[in-house]
Amino acid sequence: MCGILGYVGSKQAGPIILKGLRQLEYRGYDSVGIATIDHGRIELRKDAGRVDAVEKKLHFGDMIGVYGIGHTRWATHGPPVQKNAHPFVDESGKFVLIHNGIIENYLELKEVLRAQGVAFSSDTDSEVLVHLIAKVYRGDLLKAVFSILPRLQGAYALCVLHTDSREIICARNGSPLIVGVGNGENFVASDVSALVEHTRRVIYVRDFEVVRVGEHEVTCFTFEGKPVAHEVKEVSWNIEQAQKQGHKHFMFKEILEQDKVVEESLKVVFSCARSWNRIHIVACGGASYAGLLGKYIIEEVARIPVSFEVGSEFRYRKPLIGKGDLVVVISQSGETADTLAAVRLAKECGAHTLGIINVVGSTMAREVDEVVYTRTNGPEISVASTKAFLAQCIAMYQLAYHLKGGVFEFAGFGGYIKSLIELSESIKLVAQRYALYPNFIFIGRNRNFPLALEGALKLKEIAYIHAEAYQGGELKHGPLALVCEEMPTFAICPQDEFHDKMLSNIQEVKARRGRVVALGTAGDTKLAGLADDIFYLPAVDALLYPLLESVVLHLFAYHIADMRECDIDKPRNLAKSVTVE
Ligand code: F6R
Repeated sequence: MCGILGYVGSKQAGPIILKGLRQLEYRGYDSVGIATIDHGRIELRKDAGRVDAVEKKLHFGDMIGVYGIGHTRWATHGPPVQKNAHPFVDESGKFVLIHNGIIENYLELKEVLRAQGVAFSSDTDSEVLVHLIAKVYRGDLLKAVFSILPRLQGAYALCVLHTDSREIICARNGSPLIVGVGNGENFVASDVSALVEHTRRVIYVRDFEVVRVGEHEVTCFTFEGKPVAHEVKEVSWNIEQAQKQGHKHFMFKEILEQDKVVEESLKVVFSCARSWNRIHIVACGGASYAGLLGKYIIEEVARIPVSFEVGSEFRYRKPLIGKGDLVVVISQSGETADTLAAVRLAKECGAHTLGIINVVGSTMAREVDEVVYTRTNGPEISVASTKAFLAQCIAMYQLAYHLKGGVFEFAGFGGYIKSLIELSESIKLVAQRYALYPNFIFIGRNRNFPLALEGALKLKEIAYIHAEAYQGGELKHGPLALVCEEMPTFAICPQDEFHDKMLSNIQEVKARRGRVVALGTAGDTKLAGLADDIFYLPAVDALLYPLLESVVLHLFAYHIADMRECDIDKPRNLAKSVTVE
């Protein structure tokens, strides 16, 4: 949440930062701002709104100065208005700062600063940082940053500039921060996508580190001021993979890439120990549905008990875990605050942590005892996860077979996914008939239930349609009261051992005049006779259907959202990387 970016070199900073912020916009799109320094003077432009809308008014590309910082905001403290947009300048006009995270004790710090005569210009927690630094500054920006860190509670990646020194000072505690190492120029950013156009050589800054980024050198320190060494790593993907490549939305492009994702994902290898007292799976949002699928599949395939919980709940319980337990966390970003807190708690309890993570070098990837990276054919940019979700589901099957002592195989998987992607136009035609319904129910049984949850989540988040998911058998315990002509049901009903039970559930819906869209197996005439609309999956082993279902669910939500003219890649109120609680 919030994207931060800094540049120091010999080129005009404005256009470079502007371009980078476009890449970071998925992290927050409430406001945007850039500050550059030219001839000892800060130039600041910022406003509420999306990058391109604000650029039209403020022309960031014209900003001169060869070093600067920029920010896209996902509002936490204070509404998304101009005064709350970053960067923030101190009262002397010499310091300028951006921040990602939350300063939990900002009210207390604000009072202290107010008592010293500081007048605040925003409602944010972040603004305290620039005033604190200005107050303690005695000619050395690095020292000033070191000296305020012990006073901060909360999470932050911050970058600060001073008009008199051509360098960016950054500090990290709990929010992502990466340094891009160039030739006579260096970058800092929340993630690689913002700088990969300029350099693929990066340093993953760790928590409790301060970095001085100059034009020609990058120096890292601990919070105590001790220099620390860092390996410069090579990023494996390129800028083309982080662009839309002619598609209207990243989400659509990322759905289309999934045959390649399957190909790559099938190469992933698990090597963790096989014998555990108990396995716990923890994740958030869509990733948690992949985790719930994992519970079904691991218990079915490996016959090991698995408990499942979302990160925001797990972290505040006293979970019954300890030595001999395996805690599996699943995360695309590797930065989700609740999942990360679960990792820390699990480690404290003595459990072994295994991360199934997409973003290489992310905080979670570095903190877990063991990491297995999902392979998604380049970064996932759309806020709504599609290809990473599929990769996470595949990883669950691979883990299940590994725990059993075998290897997961699915002959023809990539081809099946390709054929489902090719259904896009016919899914669009059906989606047209459902685009105006304000509510939806999704049903599925057993291992198909997590997919029902995923289908409902996608409709909520990108099409703003209220959707709920239930196990088919649960309908009669309450939700059936909602079913009527205005409440369609999406039934996931492949030819598996629950097929007949699902047909009965669909009958219950039809008897209440509910419309049914079904996802079934090719050749299922019984289902075709009941459903108003139907999409077919190829016939495969019953265990494997969940791996084919998400493509159709994602395309269905995508086309509905597109018809409703929603901002698909950047749904309102959301951000891709949820680094706050
Ligand atoms: C849904 C979606 C979110 C994420 C969730 C976890 O489409 O993308 O629900 O799955 O915020 O994020 P990660 O996987 O980054 O931990």
